[in-house]
Amino acid sequence: MSVDIIKNDFLAKYGEGEVSVYFSPGRVNLIGEHTDYNGGFVFPCALSFGTSLAIRKTSDKKVKFASRNMDFTVELGLDELTSPVGKEWVNYPLGVINQFMKRGINLESGVEMLFDGNVPNGAGLSSSAALEVVTAYAINDLFGYGIDRVELVKMSQGAENEFVGVNCGIMDQFASCMGKENHAIFLNCDTLEYELVPVELNGVKVIISNTNSPHKLDAGKYNERVAECHKAVELLNGAKAVKNLGELSPEEFETVKEAITDETALRRATHVVSEIKRTTDAVVALKAGELEIFGKLMNASHESLRDDYEVTGNALDTMAEEAWKIEGVIGSRMTGGGFGGCTVSLVKDEAIDNFIETVGKNYEARTGLKPEFFVAEIGDGARKIC
Ligand code: GLA
Repeated sequence: MSVDIIKNDFLAKYGEGEVSVYFSPGRVNLIGEHTDYNGGFVFPCALSFGTSLAIRKTSDKKVKFASRNMDFTVELGLDELTSPVGKEWVNYPLGVINQFMKRGINLESGVEMLFDGNVPNGAGLSSSAALEVVTAYAINDLFGYGIDRVELVKMSQGAENEFVGVNCGIMDQFASCMGKENHAIFLNCDTLEYELVPVELNGVKVIISNTNSPHKLDAGKYNERVAECHKAVELLNGAKAVKNLGELSPEEFETVKEAITDETALRRATHVVSEIKRTTDAVVALKAGELEIFGKLMNASHESLRDDYEVTGNALDTMAEEAWKIEGVIGSRMTGGGFGGCTVSLVKDEAIDNFIETVGKNYEARTGLKPEFFVAEIGDGARKIC
């Protein structure tokens, strides 16, 4: 989107004067799903699309939220920023402002904000993290608070946990804030140590397939999985003291897993422990240029998310199955929280047209839903545009 459009809309809405524009991207996760809140590894990249924010300070004491994607504005006084409001999307940026307050930083003046997002909503590409991170980054920069990027990531996650009620891990906000063009982020979600790994695919592209079956990352199913993992840890503590599942190698897990007497919790833990291993193996494979191995790990990740973690559902399973049938597809899996949303696939250049046509046709015939396909461009994390 051109910066002029959001700037002009901002000036038309709020009146002439100065305005700054910031941007933060959505993300696609290559592998390492539902491992972040278990202290495991993830391997996401920032995308080229995301959320822009036009913003300026005002001399009054009002905080104004508006979006080019929604036709209402919310206006709150500086003393009304401590609890969520009824209008759903506003709670993401509002929750971020609240995180500044929790760190003893109260806005000293009002602000006018106009957001504009081009991450497809409900696609599992982290439109919500982009919205949180762009708010945190912009306010920090505009008011000169000097908070470092990793803290901004934690504040953005905190907003989602506390104001939206989703007990998400840190992956999405981290990718949106810390991403780098043509790199994926190999992140240890326990220590937050990370490595930027070049994504050099020589003749292969990352394709995102949107099932258009909206994933609703509602507090319900997602928080249920988080709770099931906590239960597994609790039960394991009879056999071995662990803080989270990410501490266990597959071999260690084998020796203690019978302590998890709850069948559902055991399957959830089996996914988490195996997915963490797949993620570290996948990074080794990518660095060695062994894309075929990387692809097989992606496929196994999908199967584990389908069978043990149960977060795929018919639309995602159909999209992955149809992709697996195509010659030139190296690997394919669901990406993000699941329950709808997108798959991510590695596809050889010469197979892309056939992939889009054939997977598109077969997916629509089987589900009645019209899918969308994008060639992913891996972009930079949060930044000031002007
Ligand atoms: C959502 C959450 C992330 C992560 C993924 C699953 O995107 O926001 O923290 O848990 O699901 O890997």
